[in-house]
Amino acid sequence: MNPADTSDLWWRTAVFYCLDVQTFQDSDGDGSGDFAGLARRIDDLSALGITCLWLMPFQPSPDLDDGYDVADFYSVAPALGDLGRVVETIRIAHDRGIRVVMDLVVNHTSDRHPWFVAARRSKKSRYRDYYVWRDKPPRKAQPTVFPGEEATTWELDERTGQYFLHSFYRHQPDLNLANPEVRAEIARIIGFWLKLGIDGFRVDAVPYLLTTAGAPNEQDPHSFLRELHRFVGRRAGSAMLLGEVALTHEEQLQYFGESAPELDLQFDFVASQTAFLCFARGEAEPLARALAARPQVDVSQGWAMFLRNHDELSLALLTDDERQEVFDAFAPDPDQQVYGRGIIRRLAPMLDGDPRRLRLAYSLLFSLPGAPVLFYGEEIGMGELDTSFVREAVRGPMQWDAGRNGGFSTARASRLTRPLPTGGYGPEHVNVNDQRRDPDSLWMFISELISRYRSTPVIPWGRLKVLDSGDRRVLAHECSSDEVTFLAVHNFSPEPVTVELPGWDAGREITVLLDSSGHTAPDLAAPDEAGRVRLDGYGFRWLKSAPPPTDHD
Ligand code: GLC
Repeated sequence: MNPADTSDLWWRTAVFYCLDVQTFQDSDGDGSGDFAGLARRIDDLSALGITCLWLMPFQPSPDLDDGYDVADFYSVAPALGDLGRVVETIRIAHDRGIRVVMDLVVNHTSDRHPWFVAARRSKKSRYRDYYVWRDKPPRKAQPTVFPGEEATTWELDERTGQYFLHSFYRHQPDLNLANPEVRAEIARIIGFWLKLGIDGFRVDAVPYLLTTAGAPNEQDPHSFLRELHRFVGRRAGSAMLLGEVALTHEEQLQYFGESAPELDLQFDFVASQTAFLCFARGEAEPLARALAARPQVDVSQGWAMFLRNHDELSLALLTDDERQEVFDAFAPDPDQQVYGRGIIRRLAPMLDGDPRRLRLAYSLLFSLPGAPVLFYGEEIGMGELDTSFVREAVRGPMQWDAGRNGGFSTARASRLTRPLPTGGYGPEHVNVNDQRRDPDSLWMFISELISRYRSTPVIPWGRLKVLDSGDRRVLAHECSSDEVTFLAVHNFSPEPVTVELPGWDAGREITVLLDSSGHTAPDLAAPDEAGRVRLDGYGFRWLKSAPPPTDHD
């Protein structure tokens, strides 16, 4: 399909930027970030080049899971602002050409949500059936997502003598999707935020949402996702659903929808986890294999590519040995690991702050077909907090400048929602302000990547082909349309390498889009006549080839 025909599929080529309003910018000195602060920072994000914000939950919440425990779907946590501020922020973002999507957390509610409060009052409550109840926990209960923090997924409600399902924490009772009234509530929530200008949703915990855990539900659970997709399309034609489905590529296919569309975009957890295995090994081969096997999806759907997100870096899709390799390389201290499957560190410290490795990682992210997703602070290589913060160790305040509290807030340090890191990753060393003035900074590099990505639409739209680089250390992949071919080569090892890509677009005009060594002259960076490409340790190169110009005289 010609990209020009697909301009309303904006999410296929978006550059997402995930942030938590609470830790981004405080405007009133109370120690918590807020919408007024975020609104002031939109120009900084626009300068970086991102095209879509993903806002982590900002609704009222007891905050026992950093807002993923919503107590009221229709308003805003008072410390963050009010609906007026939300709408103003959306308007400012739209004005700069930036779309705004938000988390939709409807697998569960907080146990303080009025529905649950009413539901647990009596078995006869009209809200009882909004949740999933059993007289006894099923013999084969689903395992908890948070081993070590929770022992089971069923909690006894003393007052009514029944157990309720909680796939996550016990204070997050699962909603009962089999109940049509619950489905109608979810539609109303979506309709509400779409009317306020939201452009789509990052749908939290989709497989759990669809699992009715043995609830008497004869329907195909995917019927709900199909309904949701149709509903979003009817209410706002260009809104989209980006789903969190942390499964294998094959398993993800059913969430794109078999008979009718379901999710528009899904995070590529396989690529992300495999990339870390490659970084650990200094080899590209596992990622080459995973990408070559990644199924084709409909042109209207796609993958959201990421390296780190707000959660632990889960390695659940790797084998036990592979996971151990990644732990050994990047989280040797057991305190840096969580749930037996993940790492609670940010990327920059995991890669020892090595600019060559960081650039390799982000070059890879932006060169893979899909929509890249950045987690706030990645653009400056922010570090993590103390491991006692567990998953929240990666959710420290944004570091804007070298001043007090990194420019995040004027409050006393003890009043901040979370502290800032100290030492080499503290704001005096790592901040946006300094990096925007330094041509060699990570911020500058990421802004260049974003601009290259945005001006090379064949990356997200093209056909992916993994080439045989003949060297386990090097990933060579192409994204091509009928006219243009994009080639990226990435050397995951510290040693310089020369790979041969014979015949790579011989006779065509080659443009060098990006090169880790700083050469952009074709004679230095393009493959030679034998198709040989030389790369430094952790080096990479992006090339574009097009047919030679024709003579139209
Ligand atoms: C998702 C979120 C995670 C949250 C969980 C429960 O996995 O990414 O942060 O704790 O859902 O809502």
